[in-house]
Amino acid sequence: MKTFHHIQSVREALKQARLEGKTVGFVPTMGNLHDAHIALVRQAQSLADVVIVSVFVNRLQFGLNEDWDKYPRTIEADSQKLAAVNCDFLFYPDEKEMYPNGMDAQTRVIVPSMADVLCGASRPGHFEGVTTVVSKLFNIVQPDIAVFGIKDYQQLAIIRRMVEDLCIPVDIVAGDIVREADGLAMSSRNSFITPQERPNANQLHRSLSWLREQILAGERNYPALETAAKARIKEAGFRPDYVSICNSKTLTPAASDDLNITLLGAMYTEGARLIDNLSLNLAGE
Ligand code: PAF
Repeated sequence: MKTFHHIQSVREALKQARLEGKTVGFVPTMGNLHDAHIALVRQAQSLADVVIVSVFVNRLQFGLNEDWDKYPRTIEADSQKLAAVNCDFLFYPDEKEMYPNGMDAQTRVIVPSMADVLCGASRPGHFEGVTTVVSKLFNIVQPDIAVFGIKDYQQLAIIRRMVEDLCIPVDIVAGDIVREADGLAMSSRNSFITPQERPNANQLHRSLSWLREQILAGERNYPALETAAKARIKEAGFRPDYVSICNSKTLTPAASDDLNITLLGAMYTEGARLIDNLSLNLAGE
């Protein structure tokens, strides 16, 4: 695997691959790679000839009180994991390479209709930071396909919308959520869960699964269901941020006759903020 720190050298390597007629698959990450990331890399490998992974802990998407400085940085281990699955290229730029004019002066990309709800409501500016860095990365790599995990459902929906609105020529591919044996969705932030709270940390998944059962049983009072799911999270000793039943495409609150809906939730443990989601197709229910 070749590692690049500079935009120019990535561009040269990818230009060569394209001259050889190869397609390019891209997996953007913030590092601290776990099995779910590796599954995204394998998915990209099944869809493209050459695969490039980026590792960049993007300060622009972290709020002032968030965990940018604490965010786990494990580039040696990440690099070994990628080499072990025969990833072709790793792009590992520093902040000066990505934001040479400083972050305050950086031109921004905003998806206004979806960035301020759900996770965006408690993380102001977060999705603006994501869409800005992802559009820069798309311009650097110019991939044919890019793979994003469904675990960050809102991020995936926003990126799809950005690509549509800005006519960016890339196919966005969704990678399934990878779960621990008890249902907890894999995430780099799971390392912040304390050992004491870990046995119940799958509560968000359990509450969303309960919600799914209620809906499949015919319950359609969505606001009441959201309140009940939050109560279950509280009873388990965690602080719910939100539980929302949304239209899968627009992320607006689902109408009772919407057929494609997504149940999204976020909760705080002592050490972490966890997110999860489940999608349902109610056609034929
Ligand atoms: O999902 C992530 O790890 C990040 O939000 C991303 C897409 C790499 C942008 O920094």
